[in-house]
Amino acid sequence: IKKIGVFTSGGDSPGMNAAIRSVVRTCAYMKIDCMGIYRGYQGMIEGDFKPMDARSVNNIINKGGTILKSARSLEFQTKEGRKKAYDQLQSAGIDGLVVIGGDGSFTGALIFHKEYNVPIIGIPGTIDNDIFGTTYTLGFDTALNTVVEVIDKIRDTASSHNRLFFVEVMGRDVGHIALNAGVGAGAEEILIPEENLGLERLLESLKRSKASGKSSSIVVVAEGDKTGKNVFELKEYVEEHLPIYDCRVSVLGHMQRGGSPSCFDRVLASRMGVKAVEALLEGKSSLMVGIQDNKITLTPISKAIKGHTKIDKELMRVSDIMTV
Ligand code: F6P
Repeated sequence: IKKIGVFTSGGDSPGMNAAIRSVVRTCAYMKIDCMGIYRGYQGMIEGDFKPMDARSVNNIINKGGTILKSARSLEFQTKEGRKKAYDQLQSAGIDGLVVIGGDGSFTGALIFHKEYNVPIIGIPGTIDNDIFGTTYTLGFDTALNTVVEVIDKIRDTASSHNRLFFVEVMGRDVGHIALNAGVGAGAEEILIPEENLGLERLLESLKRSKASGKSSSIVVVAEGDKTGKNVFELKEYVEEHLPIYDCRVSVLGHMQRGGSPSCFDRVLASRMGVKAVEALLEGKSSLMVGIQDNKITLTPISKAIKGHTKIDKELMRVSDIMTV
């Protein structure tokens, strides 16, 4: 491998810049060239490349978003698009790739590798933590801290007005953000897609909590929850069946993807970037860097995109106990 191309793809997540920095600096350390590819696969198709040296990534470890920009490319899903991308890599002399992204980006990477045999290593960057083969994805920890900070603020106003707040958090079709931030923020109830306990149970729990002397409450709702109602319909349902509460809804949205990465995400990104470049130099491909038992590991991308990290049952129990 003489020249590695690095790019970010799919939804951005805090820590992506720290990972770019790590890949670029590891290349400099190993004395190989590094090329930044802008706007993910779309930029690859268009040849939107820029050489990166160690100094080109100064002062980005603390920055949210991604300096290389990100995109979800429809053109790359076509054979013609991938052919164009391959030709661009060839003419730029890029002979290895590091993709920082989520499962959609990894699926594209696998197809591309099968068709053109370009070595490719993945770094999991998504706030959702929905990738198998790593206990933590880049950005998850920062997103949790953001959500907890915001719910703390919502709690101030909820308790001042004796209100019940439904707070919708991201996570696509998994409940890791909801469960972890919910426990961290002391939520009364946490609704996640992995365990749909039904609306009856929600009403019972809210009734019990009112009877036990609580005057305000926070219910954290994962955006992919399986109650069959969106967060606004949930609010209406509770208001209708439990008129003892004055309810409000807060949808946190994309603020969860922004902000300066936590120290945890910066360290994780730095470790993952080093491993990704090392793996390419050792002739490996189609693997994803992860962290398991605090060790940096490699998992076949084909496995990483098939399964999700399981929801933590012990944490669900802790959440139940805390709302006694
Ligand atoms: O995968 C990250 C994520 O933020 C999910 O939590 C969310 O469902 C989705 O991306 C939102 O996507 P977009 O930014 O395209 O609206």
